[in-house]
Amino acid sequence: MGVVVVLVGLIVSWLITGIGALIALAFGFLWVRDLTSGTALVEAPDVAPESATGAAAAAPVGGPKSPAIAPEDRYPRSKFLEISTLGLGGVLGGLVSAPAIGFMVAPAFLKQGVKDHDIGPLTSFPDGKFIVATFMLDASQGEVSRRTAFVRSNGQVNGQPSFTIISNHCAHLGCPVQPNGLLDNAATTHAGDVTLIPTVAIVGFGCPCHGGQYDVEGNRTAGPPVRALDRYSFSIRNGHIFIGKPFSVSHVDGTGGDAKIHKWTLAFPGEHVNGLESWLYPIQPPH
Ligand code: FES
Repeated sequence: MGVVVVLVGLIVSWLITGIGALIALAFGFLWVRDLTSGTALVEAPDVAPESATGAAAAAPVGGPKSPAIAPEDRYPRSKFLEISTLGLGGVLGGLVSAPAIGFMVAPAFLKQGVKDHDIGPLTSFPDGKFIVATFMLDASQGEVSRRTAFVRSNGQVNGQPSFTIISNHCAHLGCPVQPNGLLDNAATTHAGDVTLIPTVAIVGFGCPCHGGQYDVEGNRTAGPPVRALDRYSFSIRNGHIFIGKPFSVSHVDGTGGDAKIHKWTLAFPGEHVNGLESWLYPIQPPH
């Protein structure tokens, strides 16, 4: 039962996995204790069994005793064979199944190694304006790895450049979200695999698939999406902005550089990241 709960927990949550592991350990301990208890034979009493009934009252005192059991005979051979067979079976089963399970499961938990991406100098991002930036995560994979982010400079916050970088993956089913507003296509620039399209004015983002709507901070305002739009982390190096790992957001309080972002590990579209509903979704490997 513990193993079953562990397996269910791997799909549902780490908490359930921990409970399953505890159950497995507790019952495993009891099982081993049961196997090993009672195996040490108690030395036979000096008195014949009949003496308990009184019928053996006539039995000669100091009659024949049960033979004393030598210490080396206290552990029955049958019990030893039973335990050693189980143990050997377990070891062999582990040796055979562990590599297979490892090869199946481990790759999903290994770091996939997406590198930070230089999307251009800070001067390409005027304060308060969204720029639609597209770039390839891995140029060797070509266009299939192209991603889109809506990048807005919020000016300086505490002496550091502040940016809002919103992913265009809809939080409903992952369709490409579009800016609700005008793009300044004539001002588009290209540098390597990066394309920057300035916007004239946008009032939010909309999804063409099922009508999901978001405000300029990526908060869901209407439609079926279950959370805010994901965001990208970023870093500034040598006057350039580098897009880093994406993360999920339940919602954002405030705007621009003062916004308080409620950040979560990246989740798949359609998944709640907080609240009771989040318990219904399986643990995700890093992606
Ligand atoms: S995929 Fe965006 S609303 Fe459904």
